[in-house]
Amino acid sequence: MRASLFTVIGILLGLSAGWFLFPALLYRSSEQPLHFSHRTHTGESGGMSCTDCHTLNETGRFQGIPATAKCAECHAAPLGTSVSEQRLVDEFITPNKEIPWKIYSRQPDNAHFPHAQHTTLAEIACAECHGPHGTSDTLRLHQTNRISGYSRDIWGANIAGIGGEPWEGMKMDRCVRCHATNNRRDGCVACHK
Ligand code: HEC
Ligand code: HEC
Ligand code: HEC
Ligand code: HEC
Ligand code: HEC
Repeated sequence: MRASLFTVIGILLGLSAGWFLFPALLYRSSEQPLHFSHRTHTGESGGMSCTDCHTLNETGRFQGIPATAKCAECHAAPLGTSVSEQRLVDEFITPNKEIPWKIYSRQPDNAHFPHAQHTTLAEIACAECHGPHGTSDTLRLHQTNRISGYSRDIWGANIAGIGGEPWEGMKMDRCVRCHATNNRRDGCVACHK
């Protein structure tokens, strides 16, 4: 009786180490270089649309996160009294430096993702892949896999398959699943170089 109780406890401890401790050791968490609130800028309060900042260039390629020059259009001098805005002006806009944002969805070099093709041709909404990031008020920690260097959003497999929202994954199975529902049965080389 006693022995089997210890066995059960041992198994439970082993499992929790695998489920909670191992991921905690595998990922390094770091803060973004500056506080940024999408909600202040977008939606009813801010009035800006996603494509005001996340533009395509002349050749139709997605430009990603806007450069400091975009922020300077409004923040050449502080509009409010917040510490983060003061930091933006002093540390980045005045010395004309780019903000080293960490990209949650960054893919490995060997995977090819034509961003504009998904938003303009396929007309997939931003939130379908990125979730509510566009209306968020604070930035979560960026989690980096210590071994591969990849962001947890694309790599840290949700082993249990529970608790994860679809947008928490930019993982291969997510890409492949949507392509299959859209009758795109591409081979490995469609996405890999
Ligand atoms: C005022 C300019 C601005 C507007 C407007 C804006 N963004 Fe952003 N966006 C940023 C900046 C700066 C970052 C980098 C900080 C961060 O991760 O939030 C960013 C980052 C992101 C990211 C994170 C990408 C990644 O994987 O790291 C997503 C997703 C995003 N924006 C979506 C949206 C959506 C959707 C909208 C419209 C609802 C929107 N943004 C409107 C400036 C803007
Ligand atoms: C179209 C004008 C406009 C642009 C472009 C713009 N902002 Fe703002 N931003 C505002 C307004 C308006 C506020 C609210 C001011 C206040 O009351 O503090 C604000 C507030 C802020 C704040 C302080 C509030 C907070 O939530 O911390 C930060 C930081 C900030 N913006 C960062 C940025 C960055 C980074 C960019 C460039 C990617 C940018 N903004 C581009 C208009 C703009
Ligand atoms: C089909 C899924 C999908 C849709 C729809 C989508 N994205 Fe993305 N987005 C991604 C992936 C995957 C990446 C990472 C690309 C890479 O690293 O090569 C990304 C990267 C980004 C980045 C960071 C780019 C960088 O490298 O600086 C921003 C910002 C972003 N997306 C905003 C948006 C906005 C705004 C929309 C809507 C107009 C949108 N996304 C629609 C999947 C998507
Ligand atoms: C929500 C659905 C959806 C998701 C998620 C998605 N895709 Fe796509 N993808 C599409 C659709 C639809 C097209 C066809 C667009 C068109 O050309 O009209 C496409 C086209 C492509 C193409 C171009 C293929 C060609 O033959 O021209 C590549 C490459 C691609 N996707 C890679 C990716 C990768 C990598 C991911 C994951 C990071 C991903 N996609 C996630 C729906 C999706
Ligand atoms: C629809 C796009 C898509 C298709 C099709 C696809 N992959 Fe991927 N694959 C990705 C993306 C995006 C990643 C990076 C995110 C991740 O690791 O889940 C990836 C990651 C990988 C990795 C890990 C790469 C690394 O740097 O660690 C391997 C290995 C891989 N894929 C093999 C394959 C093979 C083999 C096939 C064909 C059976 C295939 N993939 C088909 C999108 C795709």
